[in-house]
Amino acid sequence: MILETSRLILRPWNENDAEELYKYASDPEVGPPAGWVPHTSIEYSRGIIKTLLMHPEVYAVCFKDGKPIGNIHLNFNTDMTDRKDECELGYWLGKPFWGQGIIPEAAKELLRHAFEELGVNAVWCGRYDNNKKSRRVQEKLGFVYHHTTEGLLVSQLNEIRTGHVMLMTSETWTNLKSK
Ligand SMILES: CC(C)(COP(=O)(O)OP(=O)(O)OC[C@H]1O[C@@H](n2cnc3c(N)ncnc32)[C@H](O)[C@@H]1OP(=O)(O)O)[C@@H](O)C(=O)NCCC(=O)NCCS
Repeated sequence: MILETSRLILRPWNENDAEELYKYASDPEVGPPAGWVPHTSIEYSRGIIKTLLMHPEVYAVCFKDGKPIGNIHLNFNTDMTDRKDECELGYWLGKPFWGQGIIPEAAKELLRHAFEELGVNAVWCGRYDNNKKSRRVQEKLGFVYHHTTEGLLVSQLNEIRTGHVMLMTSETWTNLKSK
């Protein structure tokens, strides 16, 4: 599946993206706020593509030239819900592209796809405490605060953090669209 917005293409990852992925995912300001370790080599990035990114509803965020600059996905195996008609939204973007509203633009299209094409009834979205940039993305998209969990183990980083969970129901989505 390929999704498109005015500035972006959201498309499946493939192994040839390893070099571009490494360029952005090796930045220590990108992975750790989301709970994962910076990539250590192009081969490591290729492994992540093969094991984690080449899956349905996981998209490389690209400008129209097709080169990946970030990732956005819907996770239907999330521990945020056990309902089959709900999923979790996740995202990150290469640092050179921060602050241009790229992830809000990509997420809006992915939410449309989730609610209007996949028939999803609710989308959850988490962030760790202090991740103000991600909080702004969630607020701008219209997610509503749901709950906070303390004492979360971030296993890759061996840290304990507090997490905040936001929710968008299909009803919220429909209301936002009509505004
Ligand atoms: C969170 C993230 C995806 C936001 O993507 P984005 O496309 O830059 O989103 P926006 O352009 O809407 O910017 C969101 C906020 O980031 C902040 N911001 C923007 N550019 C910034 C920069 N260069 N440096 C620091 N903060 C910046 C601003 O507060 C902005 O909010 P505003 O629009 O009210 O000013 C991106 O910062 C990122 O990948 N961060 C690291 C990984 C991560 O935290 N992922 C989410 C895990 S829950």
